[in-house]
Amino acid sequence: MEAKFQTDQKPISRRSLMTYAWIGAAALVIGELVGGTLAFLWPRRRQAKGETLFVAGKVTDFKVAEVIPFRKEKAFVVRTDGGFLAISAICPHLHCIVNWNEVLKKFECPCHGAKFNPLGEVLEGPPPRPLDLYKLQITAGTLVIDKASVIERKNFNTSQLIKG
Ligand code: FES
Repeated sequence: MEAKFQTDQKPISRRSLMTYAWIGAAALVIGELVGGTLAFLWPRRRQAKGETLFVAGKVTDFKVAEVIPFRKEKAFVVRTDGGFLAISAICPHLHCIVNWNEVLKKFECPCHGAKFNPLGEVLEGPPPRPLDLYKLQITAGTLVIDKASVIERKNFNTSQLIKG
């Protein structure tokens, strides 16, 4: 025996179905736009002071003329024969992340083609100043970098080097 279900509802028309689909799609797009805008405008949580410090390694871990990237921290440690620099990887032009080119011995910005020498000075491109430095301290032979202390500079001078 075949069971039949009867309802009082009329079948939905194709036109109504398409209207509901368009309304649903429009609501989704508007929701994404509103949510994205609010997420963009909402202030970010400030990092606690302790989270801005990181240990880069021992003095003996770095060779003279070596540039060591710290990708997660967006920083590089450079050792010269006069001392250490902790260089920010954030381009001072429009804040893209620069890369170290080991072959050409230059920092390169992928966004607008800026190039910087190993000390962070601008060689070419639009940046208005050298790459910023982070405060670097050497404690008991260990390099500790404080990303909360950003040092803007007009050029390189030897007083920026931290002796190891
Ligand atoms: Fe680096 Fe423009 S953001 S050159």
